[in-house]
Amino acid sequence: MNYQWYPGHMTKAKRMMQEDARLVDLIIELVDARAPMSSRNPDIDGIGKGKFRVLLLNKSDLADEKYNALWKSFFEEKGFFVQEINAKSGTGIKKIMPLIQEACREKTERDRKRGIINRPVRAMVCGIPNVGKSTFINSFAGKSCTRTGNKPGVTKGKQWIRLNKNLELLDTPGILWPKFEDQRVGERLAMIGTINDEILQTEELASAIIAYLQKAYAGRLEERYNISEETGRNERNCYQTLERIAVSRRCFQKGEQPDLLRASRMLIDDFRSGRIGRITLEHPEEWQ
Ligand code: G4P
Repeated sequence: MNYQWYPGHMTKAKRMMQEDARLVDLIIELVDARAPMSSRNPDIDGIGKGKFRVLLLNKSDLADEKYNALWKSFFEEKGFFVQEINAKSGTGIKKIMPLIQEACREKTERDRKRGIINRPVRAMVCGIPNVGKSTFINSFAGKSCTRTGNKPGVTKGKQWIRLNKNLELLDTPGILWPKFEDQRVGERLAMIGTINDEILQTEELASAIIAYLQKAYAGRLEERYNISEETGRNERNCYQTLERIAVSRRCFQKGEQPDLLRASRMLIDDFRSGRIGRITLEHPEEWQ
């Protein structure tokens, strides 16, 4: 999907989230497990102040298991209730309902003391574009759930999806933009495919992926493309590796010149879809 990153758009999105957040007890925030901090907008912490917070490490199937566990502890220490999930396959989804109950125990107790029984928790899903919000809502709520509230087009009321007697979910997720003006964030989001390819030049992006893999996951490129990885991490070296990948995969231009653009596209696609293995791009100690 193509998203347009205009300041006016972002201000509007933030205002809408602020309005919606007033209606809920709980915020379910999705982040991409491969870059959990770069794929969130810290504004959510202000918007979600005083709300119960569940954080889902989505696309955990593509991220390094060791770091999934470290990120889970990192966010738990900050007061979030955390679960690793794969919204696409449904892994981890069943654990969310008990987690929500645990997160909202305080509210349930408070209601009970006031004689209010079975008042459902109201929740909203939020996250940056492409993090998997729609996939998650479909997988969590399913298609058979009742939708309550006013019919769209008739009045402007909100639509709620009633999951069971304990939980109602706002039909439309809250969207916030990442802090992509931070270069580190922008590069990581381009690597995982959240940001349009046009933002970084294709070969530059492939080269950034190679540099990271050689540093953090040495041997993965050798294994995948049957090439030898150069040691040393300069830009020239990354282009040499890219050339080797092109030759090994027989990506040639006319005249047997290695086709670096085609090799770059293949590498980026392999990387994003997990064919080079499970990879995490950022580590908690960087963000302490
Ligand atoms: P959004 O509403 O937050 O914008 O995201 P959306 O659900 O549209 O998901 C964006 C892409 O991420 C989709 O891929 C979706 O299938 C994929 N996705 C969502 N959750 C997971 C997950 O846990 N693991 C993996 N591996 N992928 C996930 P797409 O390329 O747009 O479509 P398709 O490949 O599914 O056809």
